[in-house]
Amino acid sequence: MERETWGSKTGFWLAAAGSAIGLGNIWRFPYLTGANGGAAFVLVYLLLVFTIGVSVMLAEFVIGRSTNLNPVGAFAKLKGGAWPIVGWMGVAAGFIILSYYSVIGGWTIKYIISSFTGLISPTTDTTSYFLGFIGNGPQTILFHALFMAATIYVVYRGVGKGIEGWCKILMPALFLLLLILIVRAVTLPGAGAGISFYLNPDFSKITSKTLLAALGQAFFSLSLGMGAMITYGSYISKKVSLPQSAATVTFLDTAIAFLAGFVIFPTVFAFGIQPGAGPGLTFITLPSVFAMMPGGQIWSALFFLLLFIAALTSAISLLEVVVAYVTDAQGWPRHKAALVIGAAIFLLGIPSALSNGAVPINVFGMGFLDAMDFLASNILLPLGGIFIALFAGWIIKDIAKKETTSEGPFPLEKVWMWICRIVAPLAILIIFLGGLGLF
Ligand code: PFF
Repeated sequence: MERETWGSKTGFWLAAAGSAIGLGNIWRFPYLTGANGGAAFVLVYLLLVFTIGVSVMLAEFVIGRSTNLNPVGAFAKLKGGAWPIVGWMGVAAGFIILSYYSVIGGWTIKYIISSFTGLISPTTDTTSYFLGFIGNGPQTILFHALFMAATIYVVYRGVGKGIEGWCKILMPALFLLLLILIVRAVTLPGAGAGISFYLNPDFSKITSKTLLAALGQAFFSLSLGMGAMITYGSYISKKVSLPQSAATVTFLDTAIAFLAGFVIFPTVFAFGIQPGAGPGLTFITLPSVFAMMPGGQIWSALFFLLLFIAALTSAISLLEVVVAYVTDAQGWPRHKAALVIGAAIFLLGIPSALSNGAVPINVFGMGFLDAMDFLASNILLPLGGIFIALFAGWIIKDIAKKETTSEGPFPLEKVWMWICRIVAPLAILIIFLGGLGLF
């Protein structure tokens, strides 16, 4: 069967941006910025994204398009030996990340509904509300199932009609919602303090911890290190410029994260809340802020709808990595692969759904969800990133040159090559070891 390709360059860009833009941008980036001192963290993050992040993304696109295969098949075709293990790690990471990502995706659905049914009220204690919900096993499993069902539906429909078609509608919707929320946030009385926290850097806040947090966030946010961009790259037609695509997707992802900060910080400061509240910033702090605003129910529903859309277009790419592998390698039809693998990922997500208060399930001294996140984000993604960069920089040099210049000269090719060869692997190694507490 002929392999599907994206219908247009814009369609591909929106799908790839849909993968990158997710809970990482709207939930994780603002709370990390808040917890790491504000503007200085943002600057370090930007620097890392536009050197290492964009380079690894280009490497993934090259590996994907030059083979038109899933991550395992791509490494096998280009070099073989032990390299397909990198692809395997990616497929495993996709499976694992989606299992808990979908649980949090389910929380966003619950919060859209709850915005109208009691969450947004001056008498609601949003901390107990949140803890009560995530500790309710049957409810969290139900919403996890709903989120997985939506993800499976889109992937089941295929690359063009499903992924590209939906991202073309959902990404502009997300952008519009974000703009509306920014206007609301920056016009709140007292918003200025939030904007200055976000934009005035205090360089004494930059520590090695900030650096590690920023680099880890860059990988997670850009969907790098596990072959998601190899898979999406495998559907790109030969007419599209890969350097231009990597630059565009990186820019869009970063712009949305940066803009999300203009919703969160002005709002949080306007209502005198601490920006360093951590992961609860979105699900606990914001609803209590919305409750104090006129029309709070609507603002809250819009915000969680935005978060849901962002999460869905990322979840699709996570499922697609595994589905692409099974359809390429095992010859399964897409429909069967999406359903069977989606169901298996749903099952693996059940302990993550239950581990936040319903049933104590601990692995390595952490709750199950946190342990899965640790395994994927702190071990599999950084390791994958190192090998992908090394592979592009040392093993497939000629192919890399051909793929990046097919649409005209690529003036930064040498810089890109050296980042792949030395800078990126070294920097990622540092996060990896730092993340494991080895130095
Ligand atoms: N980039 C997504 C986010 O920021 O939420 C998460 C993600 C998606 C990570 C796809 C990895 C991936 F392959």
